[in-house]
Amino acid sequence: MNIAQTIFFATLLLLLHASATEHQNSKAGGGDTIVFTTLGRPRYEFDIFALSTSRPPSISGELRITDGESVNFNGYFPSPSPALISLLPDETLIQPEDSSPLHLIYVTERNGTSSIYYDLIYGGDSNSDYKKKRRSVLESPSRVQVPLLSGFDHRSGMTVNSFKDKPSLTGEFLVYVSTHENSGEPRTSWTAVYSTELRTGLTRRLTPSGVADFSPAVSPSGNWTAVASYGERGWTGEVEELSTDIYVFSTRDGTHRVKVVEHGGWPCWVDESTLYFHRRSEDGWISVYRAVLPEIKPLTIDSVIIQRVTPPAVHAFTPATSPNNHDFIAVATRRPGSDYRHVELFDLKKNEFIELTRLVAPKSHHLNPFLSPDSSRVGYHSCRGDANGRRSPLLLLENIQTTTTDLSLFRIDGSFPSFSPAGDRIAYIEMPGVYVVKPDGSGRREVYNGMAFSTAWDPVRPGIVYSSSGPTFATERTEVDIISIDVDAADTSSSVRRLTTNGKNNAFPWPSPDGKRIVFRSGRTGHKNLYLMDAEKGESGGLWRLTEGAWTDTMCSWSPDGEWIAFASDRESPGSGSFELFLIHPNGTGLRKLIQSGSGGRTNHPIFSPDSKSIVFTSDYAGISAEPISNPHHYQPYGDIFTMKLDGSNLRRLTHNSYEDGTPAWAPRFIHPDDVVLPRTNDSSCSFEDCHWLNKYPTLKGRKISC
Ligand SMILES: *[C@@H]1O[C@H](CO)[C@@H](O)[C@H](O)[C@H]1NC(C)=O
Ligand SMILES: *[C@@H]1O[C@H](CO)[C@@H](O)[C@H](O)[C@H]1NC(C)=O
Ligand SMILES: *[C@@H]1O[C@H](CO)[C@@H](O)[C@H](O)[C@H]1NC(C)=O
Ligand SMILES: *[C@@H]1O[C@H](CO)[C@@H](O)[C@H](O)[C@H]1NC(C)=O
Repeated sequence: MNIAQTIFFATLLLLLHASATEHQNSKAGGGDTIVFTTLGRPRYEFDIFALSTSRPPSISGELRITDGESVNFNGYFPSPSPALISLLPDETLIQPEDSSPLHLIYVTERNGTSSIYYDLIYGGDSNSDYKKKRRSVLESPSRVQVPLLSGFDHRSGMTVNSFKDKPSLTGEFLVYVSTHENSGEPRTSWTAVYSTELRTGLTRRLTPSGVADFSPAVSPSGNWTAVASYGERGWTGEVEELSTDIYVFSTRDGTHRVKVVEHGGWPCWVDESTLYFHRRSEDGWISVYRAVLPEIKPLTIDSVIIQRVTPPAVHAFTPATSPNNHDFIAVATRRPGSDYRHVELFDLKKNEFIELTRLVAPKSHHLNPFLSPDSSRVGYHSCRGDANGRRSPLLLLENIQTTTTDLSLFRIDGSFPSFSPAGDRIAYIEMPGVYVVKPDGSGRREVYNGMAFSTAWDPVRPGIVYSSSGPTFATERTEVDIISIDVDAADTSSSVRRLTTNGKNNAFPWPSPDGKRIVFRSGRTGHKNLYLMDAEKGESGGLWRLTEGAWTDTMCSWSPDGEWIAFASDRESPGSGSFELFLIHPNGTGLRKLIQSGSGGRTNHPIFSPDSKSIVFTSDYAGISAEPISNPHHYQPYGDIFTMKLDGSNLRRLTHNSYEDGTPAWAPRFIHPDDVVLPRTNDSSCSFEDCHWLNKYPTLKGRKISC
């Protein structure tokens, strides 16, 4: 066994040991399983690649530098410090075939949770043979992999899952963002900057409490860190460009914190007084700017000189710099006429773009460039494609490792999952259709072909699934009907029954535990309120109104013990888009608010636990976790998955990522990660939508066109 494998297996053993303990505990105590949706994420087959900045870009010149496992992104080329090297086994550096290995630090989502890894890669030398193969993978003897930080890091003593992002290294210290500390305020991001001493694991928070900092970058000397931050102001729900400002503080301890730029994000340093960043310009184009900080301290915002760097007619963003390189920067761009995000250089002397990745892989997104310290290489993340025959199978259920022994968490490749009463089947939506599948991923088949959303199983009549047939997010007057589907019917032409027929917006059906009635929301009076109807005959068998008011009550579910119906409502501020969760008895009494969103916030999709004592729901309680522009479709209007007890206690955040998590389901029985093995399909297309708002281009005159 070589060194790389030894390290890998040591890590694996630790993980497996933790997992085995968890398994036993869960079996003993029962344990809960929650399944949820993440928009786009199952298709993000990201690896990190690198191109030379001095040679014309070519397919053969593109090097894949991560290992094709999981989703890898937001890389950083460190100057290898003694502290970093000390993490490697002694023999590692003696490798005859290549004297100059590549050092890479990056974010990886192995085991479903984000970690920061350090890879030492041999064979990165430009003259090596393997570079002649397209996107070649470096086989295991050529790579040493060291996990630096994970969601459950034993060295830092952190015991909760968290999102880790945007690493940089300065000497002994890794600087990064993490979401492991609750901001304590609804709708306030948990993202903050930390530094961890590599040798000791000692971790220090650099962001003041109550403040969220994104996208940290450390100056070449290591003395200063720049971040995008709201300061005390906080996130107000924006999901496109954030209205952050740029702050600078001492990397050592977070002191000397000064706002240096009003309106800007994704800072990076060229020298101790020159920063680049992105912002949306007044003419509508997203552009890169330069801020020159005065040499004389104390630093004040008035003494900072700001110049636009990239011209209109191209969106240019997420800039990357290298120390003392005043000749060029790297950027990601969206050009009118192209549907893809590409990495380009921008020549600061000639003021022109130099295209890179479009010439290599035109029909693929390339994101978040970063430059090597000597400027010779630009890295970025992009789809791995089927390099060397390696494709990640698309799992129906991807396990998200958790630290809690009583919970297993899965991301489903579909939306609106729900479990059959015995827990042996899942119904879910895959536009346009309703599907049924076993939890291990086998037996998948379509049971309804057409636009539909939400699923719920009848608790009494076998194989009956309820859904809403029609478009989502539609007005009260749009035709959406409650349907029941007999998923075991031999004759599919008669398996679907329409329970409402009034041509209004009827949706989110959920049956009572005795299977006699259904609660749903309907726009039949011009407002979306809650109703009950007969589960078999539909509204013709009896219709009762449960809530009434000029507001929206929606996303209802019935507790398994029959006592409560939970729903989301904007009744406290109708039409504002702000939703809180409420409970009501099925007889219309006992209405109470279960959870208050932050101002303007959204809390949605409540579903009860099998014991009826808790709910799982989606909420923007934890704000957003990264600059939305830094990943595709990367905004979080619905936020993360949370659970809480019906008495309002024990609020727990289950998901930590910068994606859009939604539509949770609480399984009636525990599903162990090992029970879910089968890939859903062989196909891994890596097709997803980039931030849709990047498709909007202003005209050159500065007038915005909305497409
Ligand atoms: C974690 O992920 C790795 C790589 O994807 C996988 O090989 C390993 O089995 C996973 N570990 C556990 C405990 O699930
Ligand atoms: C960084 O800080 C150290 C310690 O305060 C100081 O000696 C050094 O000159 C600083 N370097 C730069 C480039 O400002
Ligand atoms: C309504 O239902 C609740 C819960 O089942 C019950 O406690 C209450 O007595 C009922 N009220 C009426 C007026 O029936
Ligand atoms: C996966 O691909 C192989 C070979 O192309 C094929 O034999 C197999 O049936 C496929 N499996 C699925 C689940 O599509």
